[in-house]
Amino acid sequence: MAAEIGRRSFIKAAAAGAAGAAMAGILSGSALGEEAPEDAPSFDGKKKFAGVGCVRNVTNDIYYVGASEKRTELFENVYPIPRGVAYNSYLLVDDKTVLFDTVDRSVTGQFFENVLSVLGDRPLDYLVVNHMEPDHSSAITEVLVRYPEAKVVLTAPAAAILNQFFSCDISGRAIIVTEGDTLNTGLHTLTFVLAPMVHWPEVMMTYDDYSGALFSADAFGSFGALNGNLFADEVPFETEWLPDARRYYTNIVGKYGKYVQDVLAKAATVDIRLLCPTHGPVWRNNLGWILDKYDKWSSYTPEEQAVMIVYGSVYGGTESAANMVAAALSRAGVANVSVYDVSKTHVSELIGEAFRCSHIVLASITYNNGIFTPMKNFLLDLEAHNLKNRTFALIENGSWSPVAARLMAEILDRLEGTRYAADPVTFLSSPDNVTAIDLVGLADAVGASLGGTVLQETEAEQASSSVKWRCTVCGYEYEGEELPADYVCPICGVGPDKFEKVE
Ligand code: FEO
Repeated sequence: MAAEIGRRSFIKAAAAGAAGAAMAGILSGSALGEEAPEDAPSFDGKKKFAGVGCVRNVTNDIYYVGASEKRTELFENVYPIPRGVAYNSYLLVDDKTVLFDTVDRSVTGQFFENVLSVLGDRPLDYLVVNHMEPDHSSAITEVLVRYPEAKVVLTAPAAAILNQFFSCDISGRAIIVTEGDTLNTGLHTLTFVLAPMVHWPEVMMTYDDYSGALFSADAFGSFGALNGNLFADEVPFETEWLPDARRYYTNIVGKYGKYVQDVLAKAATVDIRLLCPTHGPVWRNNLGWILDKYDKWSSYTPEEQAVMIVYGSVYGGTESAANMVAAALSRAGVANVSVYDVSKTHVSELIGEAFRCSHIVLASITYNNGIFTPMKNFLLDLEAHNLKNRTFALIENGSWSPVAARLMAEILDRLEGTRYAADPVTFLSSPDNVTAIDLVGLADAVGASLGGTVLQETEAEQASSSVKWRCTVCGYEYEGEELPADYVCPICGVGPDKFEKVE
């Protein structure tokens, strides 16, 4: 352990799953806004802080030095970001100066202008690397060149990944930290909190007990450029940002809900007054609201009692069937219904909506004696993101040999907690009068199951299967009475001999 690193044990091993109940009481701290504690340090550099470039004050001595851009079409070369994206970095100016993460290579120019405008002639003492993914680490090499005094604070797995991505020699400058290690910078004491698989295995978060800020890496982030704003209460978050925040979480981190639950349990044990993610706005008000969203998403609890209808149609027959179900639901008084053409809607939007909705109706043509390709891709993506606890209803179309419903069910049955509200409806080419009656019956069954009874059954079923096996390498937990002999850890790839039974 480096000389400047201490250790504290305030992070209690709160039980995963207790997060929702505990957080409501914990997270009621008042907003810091840009009000400064009276005894906080100030700094008179050559250049002034506020109003320079894109710098914003998070507190009086923590500065936002990140940057947004709108040029990139696809985040991670996968996800459309028509509203742009922000790469957040924060700079603490205390007796020591600390930079929390860097930025994507697309915005390094703005980033270094921001850092310089805050630091002036002061040296940078520490660079804390909470997350090594290149959208946050691409400027590390240049930071170390520009600020030769800076030491790099990171986890051991982060150090390994750093060497994989960049020609960056941090020997002699690295401070390897682990759970509960602390770093005092003057008024502030930083505590490092491991957060593996949120979203990569090396991730940690940093908690500052002076400001109550949690530098949370990707957690609590969102797609969307900041447009000069900084705080979530400065933007219409619920109406304009929430879909992109949900789409960001569910697609990027959604597979690893258990690990997010673990972090939420830790978060419930400390007084968090600011959530400072690496994308999207900073949270200083109403933290319980966004934490409740994360609790639902990461526990695979439907965010809303709502129906999502997704259809794959070539000549319009299946589209008609989907719209007939939507109309029947509406006539029955079900208001929260959305309809998507699987060919026209990016799968990342469908994944986000699947995490929001309790009920999912899938209508697919039969194509090459299988599921319509975009629909199959969507279902496989649902499986890849570990969606659980949803109620489905299936509709299949096929002009001579419909098989899509059976094949869709084969995929859905692999999801934990899958339920069906009704038997599948089958028709040939286009709906006729008999089909119309069947579709109304399907809609009635879906409408009748809205209300939570299905989820209650699922929770009871989950409670009855409590045997777990934990991977000794990465911590992944497998649920089941026995571990299959050919089992391979989905996170780190080791075999059953590396698992131990959780007592
Ligand atoms: Fe924003 Fe996992 O990087």
